[in-house]
Amino acid sequence: MTGSDDLVELARGTAVFAYAPYSNFRVGAVVIGAGGEVFTGANIENAAYPSGSCAEATAIGTAVSQGVRKIDLVAVACIDTDDVDGAYPCGRCRQIMSEFDVETIVVTGGPGSEVREHTLDELLPHRFKL
Ligand code: THU
Repeated sequence: MTGSDDLVELARGTAVFAYAPYSNFRVGAVVIGAGGEVFTGANIENAAYPSGSCAEATAIGTAVSQGVRKIDLVAVACIDTDDVDGAYPCGRCRQIMSEFDVETIVVTGGPGSEVREHTLDELLPHRFKL
């Protein structure tokens, strides 16, 4: 699982499992751990809105709870938009990525939409770390 096309397809395929009855905005994320492990997650909403989880937070939480401490890459796909500009990770998810030293972030929308690749420094410059 190294090709960016495969990762994007996996992220889009994961987004299908999102639980997003309030926003109807389905997001899938793929995490690649430093050892090459692959984890997926989707957004999980809640009637109490702040109790919901973003796809990236779900996937990173799964990875970390299985022992991963360094993450090389996160791919995120928002399949309910074709506009990649509307598919970028939220600020909280960028901070969560920072904790586990994510290097590469792949961002895309639904099938056929543009795929962009960024460093975390591009998405979260001058970030807070202890
Ligand atoms: N969402 C994500 O899954 N990741 C982000 O980085 C931004 C937003 C989800 C949260 C919510 O379920 C829906 O998208 C609309 O905000």
